[in-house]
Amino acid sequence: MRTQPTNDRCAVVTGLGTCLPDRIVTNDDLARHLDTSHAWIHERTGIARRRIAAPGTATSDLAAAAARAALTSAERTACDLVVVATTTPDQACPATAPRVASALGLTGAAAFDLAAVCSGFVYALSVASSMISAGTCRSALVVGAELYSTIVDPGDRSTAIIFGDGAGAVHLEQGSRSDPGAVLDHDLGSDGDGRDLIAVPRGERYLRMRGREVYVQAVPAMTDSALRVAKSVGWQAGDIDAFVGHQANIRILRSVAKRLGLPEDRVVANIEDVGNTAAASIPLALAWAADQHRIKRGDRLVLTAFGGGLTWGSSALTWSGTRPVHGSLR
Ligand code: UT7
Repeated sequence: MRTQPTNDRCAVVTGLGTCLPDRIVTNDDLARHLDTSHAWIHERTGIARRRIAAPGTATSDLAAAAARAALTSAERTACDLVVVATTTPDQACPATAPRVASALGLTGAAAFDLAAVCSGFVYALSVASSMISAGTCRSALVVGAELYSTIVDPGDRSTAIIFGDGAGAVHLEQGSRSDPGAVLDHDLGSDGDGRDLIAVPRGERYLRMRGREVYVQAVPAMTDSALRVAKSVGWQAGDIDAFVGHQANIRILRSVAKRLGLPEDRVVANIEDVGNTAAASIPLALAWAADQHRIKRGDRLVLTAFGGGLTWGSSALTWSGTRPVHGSLR
């Protein structure tokens, strides 16, 4: 499904924030209690370390810190809408987003959660920017926040090596399509036939993933989605200055880039340091790219995700030059 823009009014990225827990868990740390090794994990996934939150941390704590940082980055104190994309809400009911809004002093703002697993941030960006384009609200915080450490089986080497905790957020305001930072279009899709490939089985506590089957589907789905959104805004694949893909596996990112014909220096990859943070992955990668000066004002960006559901999605935007702010839990 593509959302076709109808007017010049659109959402513009005006702030970017992150929050990562302090504790770093290396591959060697995991290899002490799992039948695995740093060499296997690094070679097969590109991951060297990930952040794991202290017990008692809530997804809303990470989300609020990242959202507060995004507000600071945007030099704003108010916002009309808070959308939290997460697989690990604080509780089944109510949603996490109103609590995040309250923590930021945004009582009265519209606030809801969005569940699309690893594609959650792109889905939430699409929803919030469409609401801004429609005039329903003038500003929004879009947050991806995850505590996969609460749903990963520490004894399962096929998932425990991959996932990490963290949160990232963007602040959006109303602007026009020619503004640097303009969010131009989206491509979203799903295939519920693959719902068992990444799932917390009903009545169970832990996530199960059939990694190889996900991998095989992720590469063509991400490539096709990225191409669709690029085409919809009039870009050739080669026009993409930075491809910011969901950080699930460095080999997936490289395969997608190869299919798109993009050189490796246009592929944003921070998976080595943070692992797979699901809905938080893309805003964290975006912030890393901005810190590393890998993206500059006016660059053409494609964000592409794939994950549980199955779901996938892409967004095309230009870059505003926004400097990220890094929040903390302390
Ligand atoms: O974020 C949501 C979307 N998720 C994804 O996109 C995940 C996509 N999938 C992947 O990234 C990869 O499939 C994994 C990293 C999960 C697994 O890598 P793989 O190259 O697909 O490995 P595999 O599952 O095919 O396993 C290959 C071998 C097996 O041994 P045998 O049967 O060949 O003897 C596994 O038992 O590697 C073994 N293995 C491991 N060995 C050491 C699986 N996990 C590990 C491990 N350490 N952690």
